[in-house]
Amino acid sequence: MAGTPEIHNTHKYGADVGLSTNWSVLRLQSVFLLNRVIVSMKMLLGRNHSLQATWLQQWHLGQWWPSVPWFPHEIHDLDRFANQILSYGSELDADHPGFTDPVYRARRKEFADIAYNYRHGQAIPMVEYTKEEKDTWGVVFRELKTLYPTHACREHNRVFPLLEKYCGYREDNIPQLEDISKFLQSCTGFRLRPVAGLLSSRDFLAGLAFRVFHSTQYIRHSSKPMYTPEPDICHELLGHVPLFADPSFARFSQEIGLASLGAPDEFIEKLATVYWFTVEFGLCKQGSEIKAYGAGLLSSFGELQYCLTEKPGLHTFDPEKTCIQKYPITEFQPVYFVAESFEDAKEKVRKFAGTIPRPFSVRYNPYTQSIEVLDNTQQLRNLADAISGASCPDAASHAATLQ
Ligand SMILES: [Fe+2]
Repeated sequence: MAGTPEIHNTHKYGADVGLSTNWSVLRLQSVFLLNRVIVSMKMLLGRNHSLQATWLQQWHLGQWWPSVPWFPHEIHDLDRFANQILSYGSELDADHPGFTDPVYRARRKEFADIAYNYRHGQAIPMVEYTKEEKDTWGVVFRELKTLYPTHACREHNRVFPLLEKYCGYREDNIPQLEDISKFLQSCTGFRLRPVAGLLSSRDFLAGLAFRVFHSTQYIRHSSKPMYTPEPDICHELLGHVPLFADPSFARFSQEIGLASLGAPDEFIEKLATVYWFTVEFGLCKQGSEIKAYGAGLLSSFGELQYCLTEKPGLHTFDPEKTCIQKYPITEFQPVYFVAESFEDAKEKVRKFAGTIPRPFSVRYNPYTQSIEVLDNTQQLRNLADAISGASCPDAASHAATLQ
């Protein structure tokens, strides 16, 4: 960064050295004309302000673009689909390790009920975990922690000690979602929300747009501490949470969520695949090395070791290609995608989002915790404001000179 101002100045003054008088006049005239265009645009858009508000109200009623799938506009709207789950937490498949254990199944229903009754703004209820549950956590915690220094990305390793210090991450203690949610909010504005079962991809991704991560609260069955056929609290707290405390990763994750709002079904599937190969199973470059940042890797003792061997294939992360990659869900991934950095991955997702056929774009307003829907006219207004804010003082001074 130290060299940046010097490069900038060299470019600026170098460009001015060769200016002819004619070019200078042309440039000033262009700036003057641009200023006139901006003023005209702002006047035009200003007249249409009330009409704009009506359009947006119609949007909220789903009358303006009826073919666009509904999506949450305010963070409270997440309550509307939180209980539209594909399966309730206590419904286990026949091959689940806890399928024949009535005590475990009853316990799973307790957790599902907590999430089912949860509403945005409430504190996430604290849970008193049993000794058996703590022992299961302890095995997973101890084993994975030995791998993190060598296999996890630096962002994960930077945050993990903070979670130990502030959130009760210990071998003999299962941290509480509420404590972690508060910690994440202080770091990046991300928050946790308990979930009663499996959400649809559309709903789950929509939560990310608001920096909300739907998290399970139950733990895997004690008979197989190193295996789980579904996300559990070990996966969420050891795999996902540390990365959501990183600002760059938080921006990247939110970008996927924003891209999903109102997107057609086929793009939801593509975005879910991008999510799979990044947030769940992503690798990233760190100097000359490659490290893991995906939660599916950081919460799996076996796959965390496997992913950095020469066995799997590695591809550069590119949403256009990543989004159509097939993947298994019950075995180690044969292919991983490597991100240059979280910022680079975010920019690529943003560019990819531009290819999604939507008659609007969206922007998250962190002050109101709501989504701003920008149709084409609104985008022009914002562009005018942006140009005005960035260039008008300069343009105005040039215009004054001409007059
Ligand atoms: Fe996950």
